[in-house]
Amino acid sequence: MVQLTLPANSKVRKGETHRAAAAAGNVRRLLVYRYDPDNADNPRMDSYEVDMDSCGPMVLDALIKIKNEIDPGLSFRRSCREGICGSCAMNIDGTNELACMQAIDDFKGDIKVYPLPHLPVIKDLIPDMSNFYAQYASIKPWLQSRTPPPPGRERLQSKNDQEKINEPSACILCACCSTGCPSYWWNDDRFLGPATLLQAYRWLVDSRDEATGERLDQLEDSFRLYRCHTIMNCTNTCPKGLNPARAIAEIKKMMIERRH
Ligand code: SF4
Ligand code: F3S
Ligand code: FES
Repeated sequence: MVQLTLPANSKVRKGETHRAAAAAGNVRRLLVYRYDPDNADNPRMDSYEVDMDSCGPMVLDALIKIKNEIDPGLSFRRSCREGICGSCAMNIDGTNELACMQAIDDFKGDIKVYPLPHLPVIKDLIPDMSNFYAQYASIKPWLQSRTPPPPGRERLQSKNDQEKINEPSACILCACCSTGCPSYWWNDDRFLGPATLLQAYRWLVDSRDEATGERLDQLEDSFRLYRCHTIMNCTNTCPKGLNPARAIAEIKKMMIERRH
């Protein structure tokens, strides 16, 4: 695997150019990061010209068209095409985005497509998310109760309490925020990063959860939580409009409050 850094790895070399049919008038060019683990060569940027008259409007549509019609070896993740699964997250023209939600018309000129930054690359646009998922699992993202539920009923929540978990529950774990955070780039082995901390917050404010003390104990660490230096890239980049930076600030506030 290779580790991708931004700005683009200086060893990335110019790759192949795949031209659209000569007749096509409405053509856009995508420059796409390519890395093949079975090949000893350095990563390269391949250039693809896509006829937009026969292509959907989103960057993911163009990548699917390239894979179907030009270069079947191009590898990337996608599933829902609706901004729900989070699997098509990648770096498009310098910003972490969901390729299925990013319109090609929003870009001028060539569109550069890289995998999410600062993760090991498995192949082409597919990053290795193992560490990200292990960190998510480490915060025990499920309801932890200590008391039995009320007899014959589920654990109820007031509307007000439910609203507290609405926004953090909308996170699709795409990792755009964490891989856009400089603190996470340098310390991803110890800092949990904004996505995982947003999920930690989601369980801390759930009125039905009874493990608040243990959850805060687990986060009380100079790296796990406090490596956030309020850089704000996370909130600025979230394609779902969520605010992990605010959630992290709220967790820090809970830490102070429980000391008094
Ligand atoms: Fe993606 Fe936003 Fe969740 Fe971060 S907070 S993982 S950017 S949906
Ligand atoms: Fe990083 Fe967001 Fe904090 S960008 S430093 S997690 S505010
Ligand atoms: Fe599911 Fe893009 S394919 S979010």
